[in-house]
Amino acid sequence: MEAPAARNLNLVYDRLRRSAALAVFCATLLCTRSAGAQTDLSGYWILRVPNGDGTTRDSFIQFDESGETISGTLSGRGPRATPITGTFKDGQLHFTTQPPAEPAAPAPGAPPAYPFRPQVYDGTYQDGKLLLHTQNPRQGLVQGVAERTTREATLPPSPLPLPPLKDLPDNGLVRTPPMGWNSWNKFAGKVDDASVRAMADAMVSSGMSKAGYIYINIDDTWEGGRDAAGDIVTNRKFPDMKALADYVHSKGLKIGIYSSPGPKTCAGYEGSFGHEVQDAKTYAAWGIDYLKYDLCSARTIYDSSPEQLQALYQKMGEALESTGRPIVFSLCEYGNGDVWKWGAKTGGNLWRTTGDIRDSWASMDRIGFSQIDIARYAQPGHWNDPDMLEIGNGGMNADEYRTHMSLWSLLSAPLLAGNDLRDMSDETKSILMNREVIAIDQDPAAKPVQLLSQNDKLEVLSRPMQDGSVIVGVFNRGDAAAQGGFSWASLNLGGPATALQVRDLWKHQDVSVKGDSYSDEVPAHGVALLRVASASKTP
Ligand code: GLA
Repeated sequence: MEAPAARNLNLVYDRLRRSAALAVFCATLLCTRSAGAQTDLSGYWILRVPNGDGTTRDSFIQFDESGETISGTLSGRGPRATPITGTFKDGQLHFTTQPPAEPAAPAPGAPPAYPFRPQVYDGTYQDGKLLLHTQNPRQGLVQGVAERTTREATLPPSPLPLPPLKDLPDNGLVRTPPMGWNSWNKFAGKVDDASVRAMADAMVSSGMSKAGYIYINIDDTWEGGRDAAGDIVTNRKFPDMKALADYVHSKGLKIGIYSSPGPKTCAGYEGSFGHEVQDAKTYAAWGIDYLKYDLCSARTIYDSSPEQLQALYQKMGEALESTGRPIVFSLCEYGNGDVWKWGAKTGGNLWRTTGDIRDSWASMDRIGFSQIDIARYAQPGHWNDPDMLEIGNGGMNADEYRTHMSLWSLLSAPLLAGNDLRDMSDETKSILMNREVIAIDQDPAAKPVQLLSQNDKLEVLSRPMQDGSVIVGVFNRGDAAAQGGFSWASLNLGGPATALQVRDLWKHQDVSVKGDSYSDEVPAHGVALLRVASASKTP
């Protein structure tokens, strides 16, 4: 059932749309009043965009009208309002978002901010409402209705008390980095009950679960709102979360969910602000095994000092602990406040270290190679999370995806596939299910990766394994194939080079050792990944 508020909104929207053409006609031909006589839009507006699942995405607009010129701000998902400029003439509104005066500083370890993309809104004023539309790069045409509101309604709520800092006990989960699937990269707001079931089916039928991929994680946009008792409810894309969890469990898999310490999630859905204990209980009652907890709107309420962030995450960590159910706790605050230094104290099992990944070489390369200095903070049960995998989503070539998989494994990063598991090519399967590479990621010793050498665009990374062997990745970050390598002696494995056992983990073949060093052509954006053991130890 569609929620009454959203149904009413859709009706209003349809009515306005039907009369929009008439309004334009009227405005241009009949309404010849001077601009000064038209309605003054100055003030505060709430823009509601139906999500199509019974919920709306709300944002606030503040207009200053001067003659036919419009200025003001639009408050969307971030902590900062975005300036807007435009015109309002003959009932027709047109405005564009402008770059913020001071760009937000990227979180430590985060890739540089993506270039600002202006967004254009057009709309019609009628009967005290604004019918607005814009093109969103991800969702296409987005349409909504804005109504007047008060300044007070646009302000974030006051902060709630946060607990005094303490070290929560280790929950004993994910001794090796979690492996599974997450809905966001491929499905974003389109994830629903049927797609999650299909991913669970495909996880098993593709062989992914046998290779170690266990978690089926629902990201943002499952939330409905709250019932009269304040309990979180699902939206109509997820008719019965308990039944869905039972289904995923019946496949031998585990299920994850998503929320925010703020009142709204990053996609503008209901967050856990002030309902942490209640929500944790609900998740436990549904049978949830994993929670990704995403800062989002909490940034507008709390400051980003390490102490506030720690307390904010500790609050949910304690709530999860109090349920008595083992639930993996995944912190997502983009690396703010050096989360790798305190994330484990909040009961955190993993923490995002960067902003969002995109399915492009530039994004993956920037994120992946910026993580080496903090690799030593990853420990069994507590992992750095450079974001989910994009392998199989089509934005990179096979060499680049092999680099993605190799790098994430060397970093002991969570391996959360972000593609559609139903239609994987053999190539995608061979990358995601390369067991020799997965074994690096899942090595129980979890020793940190190190930079062995760097020569322009060639980076050689190495990581010791529990069994004494050493993994070496010869990465070519350049745009042309290049000769890369390293000396066997630099691995400090002892003994003569001829006594080394070397395996190429992408070619799945042994490499014969000739001379003092390894050297081979590495494709552009590609990697040669080797496991090297002294003959006395079997790799
Ligand atoms: C943030 C997170 C993403 C994803 C979206 C969902 O951007 O970093 O991983 O969870 O929110 O809205």
